[in-house]
Amino acid sequence: MHYFEYQNGELFAEQVPVRRIAKEVGTPAYIYSLATLKRHYQVFDRAFARVPHVICFSVKANSNLAVLRTFAKEGSGFDIVSGGELFRALKAGADPKKIVFSGVGKKKEEIEYALDAGILMFNVESEQELAFLDDVSRARGKRAPISLRVNPDVDPKTHPYISTGMKKSKFGIEIKRSAELYKKALSLKNLEVIGVDCHIGSQLTSVGPFVDALSRIREYLDRVLVGYLRKEGANIRYLDLGGGLGIQYKDEEPPRPEDYAAALIQGLEGLDVTLILEPGRVMVGNAGILVTEVLYLKETDEKKFVVVDGGMNDLLRPALYGSYMGIRPVVERKAETIVADVVGPICESGDFFAKDREISRPQPGDLLAVMSAGAYGFTMASNYNSHPKPPEILVDGDKFYVVRQRETLEDLIRGETIPPILQ
Ligand code: LLP
Repeated sequence: MHYFEYQNGELFAEQVPVRRIAKEVGTPAYIYSLATLKRHYQVFDRAFARVPHVICFSVKANSNLAVLRTFAKEGSGFDIVSGGELFRALKAGADPKKIVFSGVGKKKEEIEYALDAGILMFNVESEQELAFLDDVSRARGKRAPISLRVNPDVDPKTHPYISTGMKKSKFGIEIKRSAELYKKALSLKNLEVIGVDCHIGSQLTSVGPFVDALSRIREYLDRVLVGYLRKEGANIRYLDLGGGLGIQYKDEEPPRPEDYAAALIQGLEGLDVTLILEPGRVMVGNAGILVTEVLYLKETDEKKFVVVDGGMNDLLRPALYGSYMGIRPVVERKAETIVADVVGPICESGDFFAKDREISRPQPGDLLAVMSAGAYGFTMASNYNSHPKPPEILVDGDKFYVVRQRETLEDLIRGETIPPILQ
């Protein structure tokens, strides 16, 4: 569900014509709908209303300050994976007591920053990290609240690059070793064991793998952890099930948040914990588009190419995962349908938004909207080929705000210097 709809053949973001925004801010540009962001949060939150829960929006999906602020105002917490994401979340007014810190490679300064901020918990991913976290906390005169990220070894049936909960993945701690590591954690004086965590992958389109992961953790908790940990004085009061709920890019039929929640809540029965969820994509994916302008139509004997001014530098998903992104004309026109690749200006064959796509023949100057680009769009953008990053726009009803300006040429060389020997 989102608020990008056609009115008389023209695409609107809420009540603003996308064409008007493009005219004012140029292209390419990311456009987000505030009403969609709020609605997604509220639907997700309501779905879990029956159980104690904290929703920690996964900052990596979209880290724009205005987007984070929107969620913070709705009461959301945040899932972070770096000091940079912590900085952003705090700047956006996040409550540190609702921040969880995940990731396999936390550095000393990042740990110190999070300890000082007083976050809810660190999701620990290895034995060495456990010991290191204890050392850093001791030196800081603090106790770090932790959970172990366990790897339940279930197949999320998604793209291999975004599946994280299988045995061969770099993420998490093998479930069968976790009792041993919990023991170790309990022996470390500057750690406080408060939770269990898992995240099995992203863009999941059925509840099965989530339910399997929960039941493995559950079985393990019941059988091994709870009794033992209670005896040792630990109080496991948070169960973090990560993110991963998919969205519709093409013809997927992902579970609705209500169904996802119902399945998880059922699996929790009898367990006295606060549930933590780390949704990213489902909150922001369909709340954003990337608008780009057609530069040229290039036809060879073999193929047709629609060359646009946005590229893999702006939106990496198709190049990196072969992802399907819907592409729609901003203003519908009556023209023949052609089959073409929609490609960007970057000097890489992997620079495409769509392959062999049926599209109504565009003309130079036409605007196209790449749909569902609100998640892992801007956050994965780069300056490759020295293109300034695009602006981000937030639409609210009939108004819009530039929430990140387009980078300038000067921004491209910020921080670079030519040393004296070359002058
Ligand atoms: N929690 C953890 C520990 C994660 O690693 C992730 C995503 C999330 C939560 C949020 O997952 P979500 O609800 O968004 O599925 N760049 C890829 C997606 C990478 C996901 C990485 N981790 C893409 O564009 O599809």
